Amino acid sequence: MMSDRGLKIFTCALSILSLASLCCGFNPVDNYLIDCGSSSDTTVGDRVFLADNSTSNSLSTPKNIFARASTSVTSSDYSLLYQTARILDGTSKYTFSIQQPGRHWIRFYFYPFVYDSYNMNRAIFHVSTQDHVLLSNFSVNSNVVKEFSVNVTSTSLEIIFTPSSNSFAFLNALEVVSIPDALITDDASTFDPLGTFQGLFSQALETVFRVNMGGPTILPENDTLGRTWVPDQDFLINENFATNISKISAVKYVEGGATPDIAPNAVYGTATVMKSGDDPRSNFNVTWQFNVDPGFQYLVRFHFCDILSKALNELYFEVYIDSSIVAKDLDPSILLQNILAGALYMDFVTPLNDSKNKLRVSIGPSSIPNVLPNAILNGLEIMKMNNSLGSLSGSAPLLSDSRSKKNVGMIVGLTAGAVIAVVVAAIMFMFCRKRKKLAHQGHSKTWIPLPVSGGNSPTVGSKYSNGTTVSVNSNLGYCIPFVAVQEATNNFDEAWVIGPEIDQTHVSTAVKGSFGYLDPEYFRRQQLTEKSDVYSFGVVLFEVLCARPVIDPTLPREMVNLAEWAMKWQKKGQLEQIIDPTLGGKIRPDSLRKFGETAEKCLADFGVDRPSMGDVLWNLEYALQLQEVVVPGDPEENSTNMIGELSPKINNFSHVDNSGLAAQSETSSVDDLSGVSMSKVFSQLVKSEGR
Ligand SMILES: *[C@@H]1O[C@H](CO)[C@@H](O)[C@H](O)[C@H]1NC(C)=O
Ligand SMILES: *[C@@H]1O[C@H](CO)[C@@H](O)[C@H](O)[C@H]1NC(C)=O
Ligand SMILES: *[C@@H]1O[C@H](CO)[C@@H](O)[C@H](O)[C@H]1NC(C)=O
Ligand SMILES: *[C@@H]1O[C@H](CO)[C@@H](O)[C@H](O)[C@H]1NC(C)=O
Ligand SMILES: *[C@@H]1O[C@H](CO)[C@@H](O)[C@H](O)[C@H]1NC(C)=O
Ligand SMILES: *[C@@H]1O[C@H](CO)[C@@H](O)[C@H](O)[C@H]1NC(C)=O
Ligand SMILES: *[C@@H]1O[C@H](CO)[C@@H](O)[C@H](O)[C@H]1NC(C)=O
Ligand SMILES: *[C@@H]1O[C@H](CO)[C@@H](O)[C@H](O)[C@H]1NC(C)=O
Repeated sequence: MMSDRGLKIFTCALSILSLASLCCGFNPVDNYLIDCGSSSDTTVGDRVFLADNSTSNSLSTPKNIFARASTSVTSSDYSLLYQTARILDGTSKYTFSIQQPGRHWIRFYFYPFVYDSYNMNRAIFHVSTQDHVLLSNFSVNSNVVKEFSVNVTSTSLEIIFTPSSNSFAFLNALEVVSIPDALITDDASTFDPLGTFQGLFSQALETVFRVNMGGPTILPENDTLGRTWVPDQDFLINENFATNISKISAVKYVEGGATPDIAPNAVYGTATVMKSGDDPRSNFNVTWQFNVDPGFQYLVRFHFCDILSKALNELYFEVYIDSSIVAKDLDPSILLQNILAGALYMDFVTPLNDSKNKLRVSIGPSSIPNVLPNAILNGLEIMKMNNSLGSLSGSAPLLSDSRSKKNVGMIVGLTAGAVIAVVVAAIMFMFCRKRKKLAHQGHSKTWIPLPVSGGNSPTVGSKYSNGTTVSVNSNLGYCIPFVAVQEATNNFDEAWVIGPEIDQTHVSTAVKGSFGYLDPEYFRRQQLTEKSDVYSFGVVLFEVLCARPVIDPTLPREMVNLAEWAMKWQKKGQLEQIIDPTLGGKIRPDSLRKFGETAEKCLADFGVDRPSMGDVLWNLEYALQLQEVVVPGDPEENSTNMIGELSPKINNFSHVDNSGLAAQSETSSVDDLSGVSMSKVFSQLVKSEGR
């Protein structure tokens, strides 16, 4: 019985470690949806906006005024939310407790109507958070949804409504919802001049345009992050130059590219392309134009997916922002390991210009000879960035003095073991949450390699996301049966978490050679790289396999350091001698060999000799397949032989390392395990161990 459990933990850990993708859609930790002024809950799509009275303790306002429209509003799918409003007559503050720091949506729904003496069409007010001004001198005369995203670093988010003099504020509905960390990374490309913008983490962003090229409106219920995408016709400068195409089933989410959270397949699966009629002489741009506020920078995110070509290497095109070329001879498939119709996104930050009130985006043919002129764009997002005063609106200074009382220094040195425990627990927890959502849906046990690798840019300005999914419409395929995880972890019993605590003082006494999880190269170069994470990950692999602390000073000298001890046996080819005894005889030798080899490669002395995280995960996936494969005559009848299914994929994924030409970020920015950033985890390890 015990050894069964040991085996389950092993396979489960294998699965979890190798299962680096978001398998079942995003489940926000913080999720506040309020139907302001309403006394009952309101369901819109698949989301429930709570009655205002159930959340009123999060609002402080001089008087409680609940407004209800006298006629029913039927202007949009969200009209239910527009029946009621909160009148905020005087400075008012919402305070939301934030369970998970990081980026959050803030969405305001406005639909002005007349209630009593309050004509909401005349309301003028400002809205700010602790750190940013979101709206100033704001007024509306029709229904409007304003969407912002802010990185909340403290344990609460305050949203302050301040009426202009002699006016009041109002609000029909409000959302404060967690966003996956990987959605907005810290850096983007600049093009005028060419370079990198860093510091998106601290930016408040307002979504000013979110467009689904060549397709219909996509409603929040069809987007994992509750976003709305609008069609592009209204923005086309010359509709006659453009035509639309649709092939949603072709979209593939591949390693190094976008994920369904970046944009749904309904966005990637439709596009506006040049109406070139296959005429090789076609030479024009398709251009979209957007009104923008001068004096702000904008984050422009392009979504590409070549659903046009029948084969590889048929489509090359140029991409422009205003008159600057931002991508030349772009072939999205080349950037995605030559997978046709892979989903790709690219981020650019525009220069600051105090007089420019239009932003143009164009696509046009490349000058590469012997290819038919064409160009494609599938989706586009334009996000306004806060200015140097922290404002997204006008030149208003911050309205609230509650600013600058940020929670600092929240992160204190955790012991290394505790961090690992947290990671494993967090990953399991996430699976737990995801599985709950899917409890009644089917799942398959098919495993497909899920590599995750670095975000290097082979062309100017391309940016890759961290997550990975292999194929659309099969998201469910990568879920570990929840019951299995639950069982294997003794219902998420903390005591079962692998990686016992390490006593700091003991750590400091054990120091020969390498140092627990820490990359030995760090001692030579005083610099951590992406490959340092790989090293640390390798140590974790041995930790999982051997079920012992990474440093255990109570053991004989040669055994103190797990990395050295395990490598010694691995090199002898006798790793089975030191594995968790409860696994004895249960791990298939092939699987163990693959696992050991993978961990060994991670622990190479020099970073360059270590594999990419994507390779590591792929190899673990493979090890798992070897573990699950049915050997003829094997009593385990329920397993299926998956090697046959796996082999065709191997070729596709054997070269996952994207060596970059463009500026390579010095810090590691990769390897998210379902939102748990390995980089962050390991940098914490380093901080705590380095003391
Ligand atoms: C909200 O108010 C309505 C009507 O006043 C009441 O029926 C309902 O129970 C209240 N809900 C909560 C959670 O207080
Ligand atoms: C939020 O900001 C903090 C501090 O700047 C940063 O460490 C963190 O990575 C940011 N998170 C996101 C999701 O932007
Ligand atoms: C696609 O183009 C056709 C013809 O130009 C047009 O009638 C249709 O509305 C377009 N569809 C979308 C979703 O843009
Ligand atoms: C949106 O989702 C609904 C079901 O949730 C589905 O019937 C519909 O086809 C989806 N629409 C698009 C454009 O994907
Ligand atoms: C497309 O637009 C860019 C930027 O405005 C311009 O430089 C280029 O010449 C245009 N190409 C064509 C074919 O009109
Ligand atoms: C700002 O935009 C205006 C209008 O597009 C343009 O004429 C001007 O050259 C731009 N200024 C800078 C510094 O780029
Ligand atoms: C945006 O606001 C933050 C303060 O939260 C500030 O650090 C940052 O510099 C501002 N961005 C710009 C582009 O000025
Ligand atoms: C709002 O507009 C008024 C009049 O245009 C102006 O005086 C005031 O400075 C503005 N306030 C803010 C915060 O932008």
